Amino acid sequence: MTIIASLLRAAELPDSPTARLDAELLLAAALGKSRSFLHTWPERIVSSEAALTFAQYLQRRRSGEPVAYILGQQGFWKLDLEVAPHTLIPRPDTELLVEAALELLPATQAQVLDLGTGSGAIALALASERPAWQVMAVDRILEAVALAERNRQRLHLSNVTVLNSHWFDALGEHRFGLIISNPPYIAAADPHLVAGDVRFEPASALVAGVDGLDDLRLIIAQAPAHLEAGGWLMLEHGYDQAGAVRDLLVTRGFTQVHSRTDLGGHERISLGRLPC
Ligand SMILES: C[S@@+](CC[C@H](N)C(=O)[O-])C[C@H]1O[C@@H](n2cnc3c(N)ncnc32)[C@H](O)[C@@H]1O
Repeated sequence: MTIIASLLRAAELPDSPTARLDAELLLAAALGKSRSFLHTWPERIVSSEAALTFAQYLQRRRSGEPVAYILGQQGFWKLDLEVAPHTLIPRPDTELLVEAALELLPATQAQVLDLGTGSGAIALALASERPAWQVMAVDRILEAVALAERNRQRLHLSNVTVLNSHWFDALGEHRFGLIISNPPYIAAADPHLVAGDVRFEPASALVAGVDGLDDLRLIIAQAPAHLEAGGWLMLEHGYDQAGAVRDLLVTRGFTQVHSRTDLGGHERISLGRLPC
């Protein structure tokens, strides 16, 4: 006979920096309950089926697989999103991009484009906060497009359109008041790519050439043709790429170019505006 408290005590995840949290999330999922259930009912007996599922989850986590991929879901902003190994697990850092976009534009009608939408995280967060905005969400990877569309449907967000596109290629003459993107921005030889949870995420979501700037360069070069006069381009990038991204924006004719810092004081977002 096994109880919740003893299963959690015995759960070993030596390589995870968040071992206790991981174990609680995995056990709660194996039981089909919330984490608070575990704390409220530590003496509750666990069925042998649930204990076996938990053991299998722990084994996957020990091999390095991220909890979000094991459970197939991740919280982002105020939303619960389905996630899958075809694209990035949305990060809390990216909520900074959402916050900045909500500050930048009025809540009235606007056309917004999320480039490289992945799970749909940014597009769906913006659309949920701003029902008057029309949000287009594109990704090159078909499985990511299908995933973002499933998330859109589950969240009943009718002001989002999800499309398969290599950056701007499928967008024709369409122009936007805001283009927002968290593109791949890691250098191909970056050692972080072969360490930790990132190992399980696809290169298509992470890697952008020798210096990590290939996709940022391309987006900045092509964005003016898809922005309204006075429209904004807002980009997430690596902590050491802000200077390079600002230079690219200025060179391409953007005004009001600046960066914003995350809670750790790193410049992780840069933005600029097309002249009116
Ligand atoms: C860093 S992930 C960001 C995913 C999501 N926006 C987020 O913040 O969680 C980059 C995304 O860009 C997509 N991507 C990469 N190259 C692309 C391209 N050429 N055109 C469109 N999307 C692309 C990837 O498939 C991936 O989903």
